[in-house]
Amino acid sequence: MTVLEVRNLSKRFGGVFAVTDVHLQVQEGELLGLFGPNGAGKTTLFNLISGTLKPDSGEIFFFGEKITHLPPHVRARKGIARTFQIVQPFGELTVLDNVLVPLAQQELTRLLPLRPYDSLARRKQAMEILELVGLAAWAHERARNLPLGLLKLLEVARSLALQPKLLLLDEPLAGLHLQESEQLLDVLLSLRGQVTMVLVEHNVRMALPVCDRAVVMDAGRVIAEGNPEQVRRDPQVIQAYLGEREDA
Ligand SMILES: Nc1ncnc2c1ncn2[C@@H]1O[C@H](COP(=O)(O)OP(=O)(O)OP(=O)(O)O)[C@@H](O)[C@H]1O
Ligand SMILES: [Mg+2]
Repeated sequence: MTVLEVRNLSKRFGGVFAVTDVHLQVQEGELLGLFGPNGAGKTTLFNLISGTLKPDSGEIFFFGEKITHLPPHVRARKGIARTFQIVQPFGELTVLDNVLVPLAQQELTRLLPLRPYDSLARRKQAMEILELVGLAAWAHERARNLPLGLLKLLEVARSLALQPKLLLLDEPLAGLHLQESEQLLDVLLSLRGQVTMVLVEHNVRMALPVCDRAVVMDAGRVIAEGNPEQVRRDPQVIQAYLGEREDA
């Protein structure tokens, strides 16, 4: 089942060709890696998919339905969720409440009957999500007391609470120590098959092994695509990263 299909997508900012003629498919349950150096167009592509930017040309399909011109909140309601390069949890709320908010919001936006009497069930669901990402022990801690590595896990938990059909993760490893990065990648690996994800990442060496498939962009264009092994050996990929450290 194809969850997302992007066809001939292009976006320009003045003279900057941020995204040029991009084709992309994401299959249900897969973890697709989206790699590329600074300015490659990865975040712009996410903005086009989530709807905060409108493309100059091209089409976007979600489960076969054309969504190219739908506003962001409608796409969110259809099941497209994203995390941002900069974490944005509610610092004053507990970790648990941070997950309860999107859970309740999800019930509202999907027009499910509000069940205030059922708040225990919702708390149970929130705890299950926290367990999934390894944050259960922190449930009653204020979010602002968490180190960045755990905040990133909380971001993942908050987006899982929206029960997304497609989760876009924009550089979740940015700023993390090695151990924190490994912990987060382990969580993504454990979600593989259950949640359809696109992972934008700078650190190809670390993230590529957990991906089912990868797409590499450079200067707005897709320059390589395939399984991790194919992508790792692709001469154009090596060329695009030339001059950067091996782990950059
Ligand atoms: N709102 C904007 N206005 C003008 N130019 C923009 C805007 N957003 C992005 N750009 C430009 O488009 C290009 C692609 O940027 P984008 O942020 O999509 O790259 P990226 O692959 O996410 O990079 P990074 O790895 O640094 O996050 C860059 O040249 C950037 O400067
Ligand atoms: Mg970016």
